[in-house]
Amino acid sequence: MPPLLFFLLALSAWQKGAQGAASVRIWPEKAVVEFGGSIVFNCSTTCKDFIRLGLETKESMRSRETGTTWATFELLNVSNWDTKPSCYALCTSASPQHAAVTVYRSPERIVLDPLPEMEVGKEYNLTCRVHNVAPRRNLTVTFLKAETKLHQETFKEHSALEAGDVVATHSITAQLSDNGEEFSCQAALDLRPEGQLFEKASQNQSVTVVDFPVDPRLNTLHDILEISTEMDVECEVAGVFPAKEARFDLTFAGERLKFSVNVWNDTATAKAQASSSSVGKHELNCTVSLGPIIRTATKTVAVYSLPDPILHVDPQAVLVNEAVTFTCNSSGTGSPGIKMQIRDAKETFASASNSSLQVVWTAQEEDDGREFTCEVELMVDGHPVPVVKKTSAKLTVFYGPRMNDTSCPSSLDWTEGNEETFFCSAWGNPKPTIECRKDTVLYKLGTPQRITRDQDGLYRCNATNEHGSDVRYVTIRIEFTQPNTLLIGLLCLGAVAIACVAGVAYRMYYNAHKIRKYVLKQKQQAAGHPMEQKSLNGNAQTETDSC
Ligand SMILES: *[C@@H]1O[C@H](CO)[C@@H](O)[C@H](O)[C@H]1NC(C)=O
Ligand SMILES: *[C@@H]1O[C@H](CO)[C@@H](O)[C@H](O)[C@H]1NC(C)=O
Ligand SMILES: *[C@@H]1O[C@H](CO)[C@@H](O)[C@H](O)[C@H]1NC(C)=O
Ligand SMILES: *[C@@H]1O[C@H](CO)[C@@H](O)[C@H](O)[C@H]1NC(C)=O
Ligand SMILES: *[C@@H]1O[C@H](CO)[C@@H](O)[C@H](O)[C@H]1NC(C)=O
Repeated sequence: MPPLLFFLLALSAWQKGAQGAASVRIWPEKAVVEFGGSIVFNCSTTCKDFIRLGLETKESMRSRETGTTWATFELLNVSNWDTKPSCYALCTSASPQHAAVTVYRSPERIVLDPLPEMEVGKEYNLTCRVHNVAPRRNLTVTFLKAETKLHQETFKEHSALEAGDVVATHSITAQLSDNGEEFSCQAALDLRPEGQLFEKASQNQSVTVVDFPVDPRLNTLHDILEISTEMDVECEVAGVFPAKEARFDLTFAGERLKFSVNVWNDTATAKAQASSSSVGKHELNCTVSLGPIIRTATKTVAVYSLPDPILHVDPQAVLVNEAVTFTCNSSGTGSPGIKMQIRDAKETFASASNSSLQVVWTAQEEDDGREFTCEVELMVDGHPVPVVKKTSAKLTVFYGPRMNDTSCPSSLDWTEGNEETFFCSAWGNPKPTIECRKDTVLYKLGTPQRITRDQDGLYRCNATNEHGSDVRYVTIRIEFTQPNTLLIGLLCLGAVAIACVAGVAYRMYYNAHKIRKYVLKQKQQAAGHPMEQKSLNGNAQTETDSC
């Protein structure tokens, strides 16, 4: 026999013997029952001669079965949260026994409060509501992100037995990685070991996370703008998520601008063109909203008016030494910061803090083709450098032809046989025509020519236009190698003379011999040799040719 069982039997015998008292037992001693449900208890007693065995309860109840020392009772529609049934026996001194009953209601509804659009880095409360549950001290609420447990809350200290609502909260710091994740909460009513584990989950709530950490950047090329002209405007938000969700609103001087949006990675940029038809300081505004976040950037743009000045040149074409009047007018708004000057590329002739200016100028030869400019400057509020507008006009000055040593050299030294070009030019307005003559012979200017000695001489160059003429004399000296040529000529002549003298001498000598031969040949002919005659004639011919 196992020692424990032996001990228990011995203990029970001792109790009976010692007190003679009977006992009552309720089974189960611990139980769970759903609110409104029913449960059966078995009451039994050791009392031999009890009058009655019963169950005391506030619940409605009915008797089920009875044995000799026991009886079972069913509690119907349990409707007290603190129900405490107890068994009794009308017997000598058996004290009633009660059971510990947990009346429960499994969680009926569990809801996770809707989650707002979240901003990265901010804290948000997850709120989970469990409705109509009991006993609340047996409840555990768990917050989940997908299948990961974030936090668990218990209510062990909750003493109320009746059903009620439970609210659990958990705070999270939104992160970019939370975007699109499903959050939920779960309620668990754990009644074990007597009862079971009831679980219920809320609906999933998917989270939208946005990130928009810094204000937009408003970019313009300048902070000033000419009236009725357009300026490119760019509003950029960087490091935002999701960039394509960024909503822009651009205004200039209170008027909404049309824009186009570009998205690249985590950057969204709106591009627009701003213009205004009124002078003054206007506000450029860019407001960007992303989910719950709204950020704004503003910039002040000064709109100014400064039309091109009007420059009159009177007259526009003038004879040298005559007067020209330059008049400049600006139809600008007459703003206090205006400054005007008349100038050319190198120097300023007149300036004034005025919107009208006049200069009288005596036209010089070198002023022909000169560009005169009227410049207006305007200081626009808040801009470091003035705005400048200018109008230019070219002056035409007529004057007679002029030549100097550079344009027409006074002497030229050339060598016979070389190729040279005769340059002689004149300046004047209109462009003069030029002729260079030696006596009546016209020299072709500007084209390369082979030099001959007869070009040597004094040339008269005459430049003319409708305003006058100018004359310049040019000496052309031709160098040639005369002495050598003469020598060669003489030498050749000498050689020819010697040759002829020699030829004559020879002829004379030869003729003397020929006479002798002839005499001889005549003799031979007479002897009957006609061929000899021919040959003799041939010889005579050759001799005539040779000198
Ligand atoms: C009630 O309890 C007694 C004593 O433990 C037992 O003999 C009897 O079988 C039980 N009755 C029922 C219906 O379980
Ligand atoms: C149970 O009791 C409640 C009130 O205590 C009552 O409304 C309900 O009708 C009862 N149900 C049954 C089945 O008797
Ligand atoms: C839950 O209920 C059971 C049954 O009544 C009880 O034994 C247990 O102690 C309870 N658990 C908690 C955590 O309160
Ligand atoms: C909630 O989402 C998780 C994981 O995304 C899934 O396991 C679970 O079944 C979902 N619950 C409901 C009620 O849709
Ligand atoms: C001739 O006039 C031209 C143009 O006016 C000038 O550049 C040049 O120096 C002058 N030459 C001489 C030798 O004066």
